[in-house]
Amino acid sequence: MAFIVAIDGPAGSGKGTITKIVGKKMNLINIDTGAMYRCVTLECLNNNIKSDEIEKISSILENIDIQLKKENGKELVFLNKKDVTEEIRSVEVSSNVANFAAIKCIRDKMTPIQREMGKTQNIIMEGRDIGTTVFPNADVKIYLDCSIEERARRRYKQNLEKGIEQTYEEVLKNIKERHKSETERELSPLVIADDAIYIDTTTLSIDEVVEKIVSIIKDKIFN
Ligand code: DC
Repeated sequence: MAFIVAIDGPAGSGKGTITKIVGKKMNLINIDTGAMYRCVTLECLNNNIKSDEIEKISSILENIDIQLKKENGKELVFLNKKDVTEEIRSVEVSSNVANFAAIKCIRDKMTPIQREMGKTQNIIMEGRDIGTTVFPNADVKIYLDCSIEERARRRYKQNLEKGIEQTYEEVLKNIKERHKSETERELSPLVIADDAIYIDTTTLSIDEVVEKIVSIIKDKIFN
């Protein structure tokens, strides 16, 4: 087993940005598992499949091909060979993904793929259940938290930069709904692993969080 860093936490806690920077600094392959759930959601939406149509979802999963690639320094996401990096961040996918991510056959398909990625390469993997379900024996487990209002502010800003039109109130509502379903769902809910290091990022800068995590990883490697 390679060296595994698990980063869990809610949407807007800074996971994505921070994981990318730490991965680069520490030479770890960065894996965004949320992007994988977003790909499945996009594929279902494209095929007009609803989250209660389990048989249809299972059949989609049989041949789904999701690739996370780095090209010219950019992290790209391919769904069935098509670049969907931007499309998986759409408002439609964002508002539906929590429903799809709660489905057993989808999680049963994604979890082994994620485990496989950590077999041969040193990774930093971000998601909701990485330190609890995917890699319960990860070398380092971090739980990144943040107040719900600050999370909505960050996502709203990101959306503006990407040209996604949504008011702050809409973003806040979406984040609240997702938080409820992610923490209350039956399968792999978002919980803090007993042995995770908890970091509240509400008042911290990206650099401060990165510094903390890098020092935690270094401690682990050298001790
Ligand atoms: O991190 P994100 O917002 O891109 O995640 C998209 C959705 O996928 C979100 O609703 C939570 C879910 N997810 C999950 O259930 N398990 C993971 N390991 C990663 C994401």
